[in-house]
Formats: sequence, C-alpha cells, structure tokens
Amino acid sequence: MSSQIDHLLNESRQFPPSPEFVAQSIDDPALYERAAADREGFWADQSRELLHWHKPFTEVLDWTNPPFAKWFGDGELNVAYNCLDRHVEAGIGDRVAIHWEGEPGDSRSITYAELTDEVKRTANVLADLGVGQGDRVAIYLPMIPEAVISMLAVARLGAIHSVVFGGFSADSLRSRIDDAGAKVVITADGGYRKGRVSALKPAVDQSLADRNGEGEQQTVEHVLVVKRGGNDVEWTEGRDIWWHDVVPAASAEHEAQAFGSENPLFILYTSGTTGKPKGILHTSGGYLTQAAYTHKYVFDLHPETDVYWCTADIGWITGHSYVTYGPLANGATQLMYEGTPDAPHPGRWWELIQKYGVTILYTAPTAIRSFMKIGRQVPNQFDLSTLRLLGSVGEPINPEAWMWYREVIGGGQAPIVDTWWQTETGGIMVSPLPGITAAKPGSAQVPLPGISIDVVDEQGNEVESGNGGLLAITKPWPAMLRGVWGDPERFKETYWEKFEEQGFYFAGDGARLDEDGDLWLLGRVDDVMNVSGHRLSTAEIESSLVAHEATAEAAVVGASDETTGQAVVAFVILKESFLAEHTPEGLATQLRTWVGEQIGPIARPRDVYIVGELPKTRSGKIMRRLLRDVAEGREVGDTTTLADTAVMSIISAQVK
Ligand code: WTA
Repeated sequence: MSSQIDHLLNESRQFPPSPEFVAQSIDDPALYERAAADREGFWADQSRELLHWHKPFTEVLDWTNPPFAKWFGDGELNVAYNCLDRHVEAGIGDRVAIHWEGEPGDSRSITYAELTDEVKRTANVLADLGVGQGDRVAIYLPMIPEAVISMLAVARLGAIHSVVFGGFSADSLRSRIDDAGAKVVITADGGYRKGRVSALKPAVDQSLADRNGEGEQQTVEHVLVVKRGGNDVEWTEGRDIWWHDVVPAASAEHEAQAFGSENPLFILYTSGTTGKPKGILHTSGGYLTQAAYTHKYVFDLHPETDVYWCTADIGWITGHSYVTYGPLANGATQLMYEGTPDAPHPGRWWELIQKYGVTILYTAPTAIRSFMKIGRQVPNQFDLSTLRLLGSVGEPINPEAWMWYREVIGGGQAPIVDTWWQTETGGIMVSPLPGITAAKPGSAQVPLPGISIDVVDEQGNEVESGNGGLLAITKPWPAMLRGVWGDPERFKETYWEKFEEQGFYFAGDGARLDEDGDLWLLGRVDDVMNVSGHRLSTAEIESSLVAHEATAEAAVVGASDETTGQAVVAFVILKESFLAEHTPEGLATQLRTWVGEQIGPIARPRDVYIVGELPKTRSGKIMRRLLRDVAEGREVGDTTTLADTAVMSIISAQVK
C-alpha cells in the first residue's frame, strides 16, 4: 500500500465536469445547502420524494437508544412495491428494467411489468412454502434475473434475504445458512463462468448434509432450484423443487402488504477482524431511501434515457444497493451480465457496452487494472461513445488507473465518481457529485449531502488537514446497519466502542483530508484485507489454514498487488511429521487448494511460504507488519519489540 499512498499524496490534478455535462446534470448545489441547514429534514424530503409510503412517517430519526437507530420509524412501506408495482401503475411498465446477457450469449430483456409479474409469482411460491414476515431465505445464485427476482420476492413478503456469493464454498454457505437459520434456500443447478458451467447445487446439498453435530439443527425445509447450467444434479425428494415447475404456474396476483420502516430487509455476511463473518443487518425504509437517493444523484440518473451497468455480483453489497434496490427503486434500465469479463474474449465488457448503448458504468479498480494490463487496443475496437459517466468502488483507485479509465473508457470526457462506502453503510457515503465536483484522481472527495464524516485521531479528536487519521461517521445515516445478526454486543464493540464518548461510527479505514477538504482513503487499519475489492479477514484465513492437518501455525497478511490491490500471503509452520513425508512445495500447493475449498477461491493465498518460525512480540502477538515487509519485498522494519530479533532474518532467507 505504501507506494500507492506516496503516489496519492503527490496527486494534484483536477477535472471539473464539462459545461455540456453540467448543463444536462440533475445535480444541484442546493442539495448541499439544504442538507447542511436541516439534515433530518433533508432526509425526510428525499424519502418522501423518492419512495412510496403506504403509511407516511411522521418521525425521521430516533437516536434515543444509540447505537440502535430508527429511521422513519412510524412509517410503513413495501420495498418490492417501490421497486416494481408503482412504476407499472405510473405507466412505465413497458420500460426495460433489466437487459440480461448470459455468458454464452443468450439474452433476455425484462420490462418493469414483466419483472413485477415474475416477482409476484415467486412471492406466491415462497408464501406457499411457508415463508412469511421475518423468515430468512438464503439465496445462492449466479448473476441471472432470478437472483433479483428472488431478492424482491423475499422483500415483498417482509421476509429477510441472505444472499451468499456463488463463489463461496459449501462450508461458508453452511455457516451462513446456520447463523441466519434459513428456512428456504434458492439456488441454481449451475451458472456459466469462464466458458464452463460452474455447479452450485452440490454445494447446497453438501451444506445441508450431515447435521448430527452438537448444536446443529436443520432449519432448511425447501430448496428452490433454477435450471440454468443444465448440469446433472442430485435431488432430495420432498425438499428440492424446480423453479420452472412452480413459478410459471403460480398466480401473478399478489398484493404487496405494508411493513414497518424498520422491518429487516436483509442480512449480508462480511469479513471482520475475527474468524467468524458478521451478518450485517439492514432494514427497509432508511436503506431504500439512501439506495435510491445515492443512485439518483451520484450517477446523475436520467431514467428515461440512461442504460446503467453495475458490474458487481449480487453476492456483495454493491449488487444489493446498486443492482437491485437503487436502480429499480428509481425505475432505471440496467444491464446485468452473468459471466466473467474475458469470456469468450477479452473485449466482452466493451462489446456489451456497445451492444446495449450503456451510458453509466460502475465497476471496481481491480477490473480496471486488469484491463490496463491487457492494453487499450482491446477496448479501442468497440464503440464506447455512449458512456457519459463512470464509477469506481471497493478500494482506493490509484491515479494511473483513474486516468486510464477516464481516457480509454470514458473518451477523456466522462466524469468519474469514486465512491467510498461499506457493507455496513448500506449506501454510498463519500463521492463527488458528477455535475458539481471537480474530480481529483484517487480521492473519493466529499461526503454526500446528508452525510457527516470526519477524520479523527485514535481518541476521536479531529485531525488537522494534511494529516492522516481514522475515518469516522459522526452522525447516524438512513442506510446504516442496524446490527450484527444475533450479536448486539459485537455490533457495539466493532463499530461504536472506539469512539464511544463522541458517539461516532468507526469505519476501520485510514483517511486524510487535504487543504481543499477532500478525503483520501488510505486502506484498512485493521486485519481486514481488500483483495479485488472483496473483503477478507486475516483471522478467517488463518483459522482455515490451521484447520489443515499439516499446519502447526499460520499468519496471513495482505501484500500489495498490482492487479488485485492486495493479495493474500500466508506464512505457515508445518508439523514436523508432515515435513518428513512431503515436500514444502507440495504442501504449499495443498494448503492453497484447501483454503479455496474451505472459504472460496477468492480467499486462496497467492503465496504460501513455509517457514520455521513466526515473528512474535514478548507477549506472543504475531507482528504482521514485519511479515508484510517480507511479502512486499521490502527491507524489514523495526524488529526491536520481537521476542527473538533473529527470527526475521531467518524468515527472509526462507522466503527467498
Ligand atoms: C474499501 C464495498 C477506498 C474500504 C462497497 C471499505 C474503498 C471497504 C472504496 C468496504 C473507495 C470501498 N476508496 N476504499 N472508493 N470503496 N473501499 O464492505 O476499505 O465490501 O472499508 O463494501 O472497502 O468493503 P465492502
């Protein structure tokens, strides 16, 4: 990270939006003024303007029991109705909601009227399976329309979805199903990735099998299976149901019932600093307000003409807020793509932008860097002239990638919005408004109107501009997480204890404010890594490594990586008995595979170094900072607090 940070500190270019962009933009400086004058009144206005409330709210924020917030607490709404029916009732049912493209090249365009019907049918099916308000439904699907349909059908019933990324292993799925106590799992036989069918159903079968352990119980009653991959699947009679047997036959009549604003909408698991993923809980009215508001103003949305594309998978928060809820609440037309960027050829994304006339593209720096590596000759073969706005999310974007994105993809014209936020914040928090802000490559810039953020020191005191500190959110915001599923203590401890006195939210990110008041994000300050924009916990990967029979001890660090931002690097001490029978290289390979199977391919370490010892302080704490130095090929830093100062030279020698 450090070379990237040096770079960021030297960056001073500015790119104001062009007069043509400003002229057509909906962004209005009055938003900042209104929010500054009356923050809660501002949010109330946004919510009333952007959403339909079955029962209007009279209270805006209830913060009498911090950190447990209530937004629009006495109002009632239906989230799915807001994303569907009301658009049909407003006469835009014929507008395409989703242009979907499968990896093999099959495609479907689904209008708002059709999507509404599908969701109603699916809601009826789920209701028949016993799903009602407050029940949990796990969704483990590829990027197919049924993923969005499932989320909305669950929301329509006032139930709670827990989407699990299709790249996660059976074990990861199992722990998420169990933690949430899911009643139904929605999955597919498989989906297309990199030109092949990647099976999903076997992982579901495995995650539901062998539940005789202590404290284990089977909460799942049914598995609803979409046929997508056409691969053979095992079938458990009575439990498994084909989607195509029940959904098309179900009634398309379903009246959306209103639920309280604080009715839970979803749980999404994310990595923290301990081994166990946290179930981040989001609720309805505040979340949908912020998703719709940010999607509208950050992307300068013109729903009649824009074709919007967010490349995130629905397994991540970006897919929740900016594939499903934000765009559909706003009646936008969007592109959804099933597969990988390079299948069947490296220009696939650019071909899709040309084919659908995409106007707004929202993606991650890691993707941009991998396209940079391949070279501009690939995107240059396609007509990208429809693109008028570009977005970035997931990690700091380095100025080189920012410039390349603007020049090569945005034709040197399109503004870039670098959006900072988290699973926990539910929606974008820091970002330029493209019709107003003069963009600076590498800086996420300013809190959105209605959002209060500061850079503070360890004690919660504001730091002077120019100095690094910690990012704190100083006032509650509508889409804030409402808790960690089943663990209120962890919620308080992780996010609120650090700045308890001030009542600030601790984001876990380092940041700096420059002379202009623009924010620069400097990466995580805890043991959370960011690999290709995905959050991974060092502790989770360490516990997976230690669970392997050959491992005695393991330490994991995130080392900077040109393409993925950070990469997982593991240092492992093996048990003597295994070293006698295997080569270190063979065991390193086994361990990489093992982690991939246990957690998912994204967690697979880039490097596994077999070492004889780990650097520890006298109190036995592993000094990951020193291991990061080794992993990044730097000279090893200060070792004076090590119990055994010689250990680092031994490790360095072993790694070389
Ligand atoms: C990082 C993804 C710098 C940050 C929406 C945060 C960023 C974590 C940016 C959340 C950005 C996200 N600039 N860093 N524009 N966007 N991050 O929960 O470290 O998957 O805490 O949410 O990603 O990751 P998560």
